Amino acid sequence: MRPMRQATTLAAGKSTSGFARPEKIARIKGVDGGASRVGEELEIRGWARSVRTQKERAFIDLNDGSNISGMQAVVNEGTQAWDVINSGVVTTGAAVSVRGALVASPGGKQAAELLVNELEVIGPADPESYPLQKKRHTLEYLRSIAHLRPRTNTIGAVSRVRNQLAYATHKFFQENGFLYVNTPIVTASDCEGAGEQFQVTTLLNGLQAGAGPSPEAVAAAESKVKAQGDAVKTLKEAMKAGSATKEQVDAEVAKLLQAKADVEALKSTGGSTSLPTNKDGSIDYTQDFFSKPSYLTVSGQLNGEIMACAVNDVYTFGPTFRAENSNTSRHLAEFWMVEPEMAFADLNDDMDCAEAYLKYCINHVLEHCDEDLEFFEKNVAKDNLRERLRGVASQEFARITYTEAVEHVLAAKKKFEFPVEWGSDLQSEHERYITEEVFKDRPVIVRDYPKDIKAFYMRLNDDNKTVAAMDVLVPRVGELMGGSQREERLDVLERRIEDNGLEKESYWWYLDLRRYGSQPHAGFGLGFERLVCYVTGVENIRDAIPFPRYPGSAEF
Ligand code: 4AD
Ligand code: MG
Repeated sequence: MRPMRQATTLAAGKSTSGFARPEKIARIKGVDGGASRVGEELEIRGWARSVRTQKERAFIDLNDGSNISGMQAVVNEGTQAWDVINSGVVTTGAAVSVRGALVASPGGKQAAELLVNELEVIGPADPESYPLQKKRHTLEYLRSIAHLRPRTNTIGAVSRVRNQLAYATHKFFQENGFLYVNTPIVTASDCEGAGEQFQVTTLLNGLQAGAGPSPEAVAAAESKVKAQGDAVKTLKEAMKAGSATKEQVDAEVAKLLQAKADVEALKSTGGSTSLPTNKDGSIDYTQDFFSKPSYLTVSGQLNGEIMACAVNDVYTFGPTFRAENSNTSRHLAEFWMVEPEMAFADLNDDMDCAEAYLKYCINHVLEHCDEDLEFFEKNVAKDNLRERLRGVASQEFARITYTEAVEHVLAAKKKFEFPVEWGSDLQSEHERYITEEVFKDRPVIVRDYPKDIKAFYMRLNDDNKTVAAMDVLVPRVGELMGGSQREERLDVLERRIEDNGLEKESYWWYLDLRRYGSQPHAGFGLGFERLVCYVTGVENIRDAIPFPRYPGSAEF
């Protein structure tokens, strides 16, 4: 792309590094809609959302992705820009560059607009085929064009809120002295023990590459054999009738034998078609890439614990993977998790951290994403979203035990799809009932779950029946965070591993943490996409991440 011709607008966007990108609309508009910048000459590059042409002027709704409202660009008759508009190339979706003066906008809709005198189309968008025309599209349809949907108001706003939530996450933990650590994506242990892991293997690679010829190639070679067989038959009859020689027949027979050999050769091409096995028929993983069965991680926690037991409070923020075949609006196969782990900490510290972190995120987006939240409020949540969020940030979360939660559900006048009794897991419908109805849209932390429905690493309570676990439930979403105090007593942990049917040997390193310098520690995991859903009101988790992965879909 050719260099920017005009540099007067660069200064405002300049960072301390001396590096500067062209100023974007969000910054130009600032807090006063651009009123204080009126009179400045600007160049803006972005995409035309729509173009309205009147008799003497045209309006381009210009968006550069930096905010939702974009900038109105006004083109008057008699300018170079007017000629460009009239040539018909400025259509919805086209990438354009406009130059002109920022002027006070006469309409009440915006404080300032750009009075364009120069307009250049950088990349046209054919209106016949460009799928994102001005009309509203369903979120479902937009998922089928995930490569274009970030250009829509909804997914654009989701992307900006997501960005601010990630920024707030790092700010919160950094301000509180947590170390950001990275934990592995490939692992040999199943942290949650739920058997929902994606296996990572190279054993299949050879099979795929050498799985033999295509059925089409074999069929073609076989039909060649048949045709040659027919030719030999015809010639033999001709020889009987005296119209062909034995030499001629022999030549055709030789061709037939060659064709048959070709089929055999084709069928035997390619490598092995079976997995390496042990004597007992099980798969021989010593021949696999990592020499043992390996998986995509479901959580960074176990490695987080290693780090917390060395460098004190840490957090991870990375992708996690679960092959649970649940086609729900709250589950993804690939999602991002924020996982703090605190040393010398118990369940109360854990709950305090979770509550403070969530409130910090909410306050941060209220401060930095007002325009996007306003959009969600009107078009997506269709309620008093911002007021609701302010309420959450300013009041204490409710804290109850699992036993109390079960009592609330049992006492409900409402009918549930799944029954509940002490010892069964709370379903999303129960979680939502508790936070939305019992506690009137207040986040609720439920603690002390039965040990049998929770993971092996959670600290056993003195009642021997429950563990020091906690889930943070929020309205509309249900479970947003899940965490616990970890079992720091070596003997108890060993017993819990055995009781859960796990192999003690493969957790030798995890047990070592309890052998040397063991201390109470605690942490939790927050599902980042669920957080996005919660603060935006977006209902389906597949719209909270640009490229969602779920059963049957890994496109884009
Ligand atoms: O409750 P979970 O399974 O907890 C853990 O994995 C712990 N090891 C975390 C820890 O203590 N460090 O998962 C944590 C959160 C859930 O509360 C939920 O918000 C989210 O991760 N989550 C999912 N989000 C989207 N799609 C899925 N399939 C999810 N499964 C869990
Ligand atoms: Mg959980």
